[in-house]
Amino acid sequence: MKLFSSVHDVPSIKQFVNDALALKANPYAHQDLGKNKTLGLVFMNPSLRTRLSTQKAALNLGMNVMVMNLDKEGWALETQDGVVMNGSTVEHIREAAAVMGQYCDILGLRSFPKLQNREEDYSEDFFNKFVKYCAVPVVSLESATRHPLQSFADLVTIHETWNSLRVGANDKPKVVLAWAPHIKPLPQAVPNSFAEWMCRAQAEGMLDFTIAQPLGFELEESFTTGAKISHHLDEAIANADYVYVKNWSSYNEYGKLLDFPDGWMMNNDKLKLTNDAKVMHCLPVRRDLELSSEILDGPNSLVIHEAGNRLWAAQAVIKAMLEEL
Ligand code: CP
Repeated sequence: MKLFSSVHDVPSIKQFVNDALALKANPYAHQDLGKNKTLGLVFMNPSLRTRLSTQKAALNLGMNVMVMNLDKEGWALETQDGVVMNGSTVEHIREAAAVMGQYCDILGLRSFPKLQNREEDYSEDFFNKFVKYCAVPVVSLESATRHPLQSFADLVTIHETWNSLRVGANDKPKVVLAWAPHIKPLPQAVPNSFAEWMCRAQAEGMLDFTIAQPLGFELEESFTTGAKISHHLDEAIANADYVYVKNWSSYNEYGKLLDFPDGWMMNNDKLKLTNDAKVMHCLPVRRDLELSSEILDGPNSLVIHEAGNRLWAAQAVIKAMLEEL
């Protein structure tokens, strides 16, 4: 594997899930694979889980790891070509990425959208230029439009718990991506990516997938092909086995904080409508705004288990890259 930026970079998601679970069972089986190899993790935005889980994944594989908060510790980057750099930018991404590629065998990059210009964000210009100029394999640590390490860990968590923790009434799990309230306009990267992975899993017979969001919060269609779409939370979560809670801002009214109807926060009353569903969230989560404390602190929450699986998802991706170096 040379690039991990979306589910489209994965030949077999079932095999990849099994690889992650095999690493969970035996984390140090491939310590020689990463010997004398270096992973560089480059952050343009904050992170807790992605930073620590990817770092630990590389250490489990015997790699050296370097981490840089490029937005705070690096030179101000220019990303446009053909500009005279007589303003505030000091270094062009052409040189910055190429130099990091000299020091690292694999690089990871986190670069959130600015949510000011939809076409610019959805072009993934910054991420794509980084991939092009660094000239080594790249793992997305969340880009403007996708968070594939999170979605991979989410699929691992659903597959693992469906097989080992419970026997549901459905023959395959009903998974619902449920929009949740927030006070700020958030990116669509997590729900886009989750939808893309779940649509692929649904196409491969692993689960049934529904998306619930208020009118006006529809995701870009190419990410949701095959999903059932509902504008009614209670209807969508009926008989659900997993409810994946997440806020996202409007794609059509890009970057704006829209009004939304009441009744979109998952709580124990909503849970009664489900098939005793497990509740997931990528974290960080705003308690009692996005998701109720009673769910987060209760037996149906999978959020910590899910965050723990970020490690095995990252390790499977880095292992696949190391095997092709
Ligand atoms: N879920 C997730 O990516 O968490 P961080 O932003 O803390 O890395």
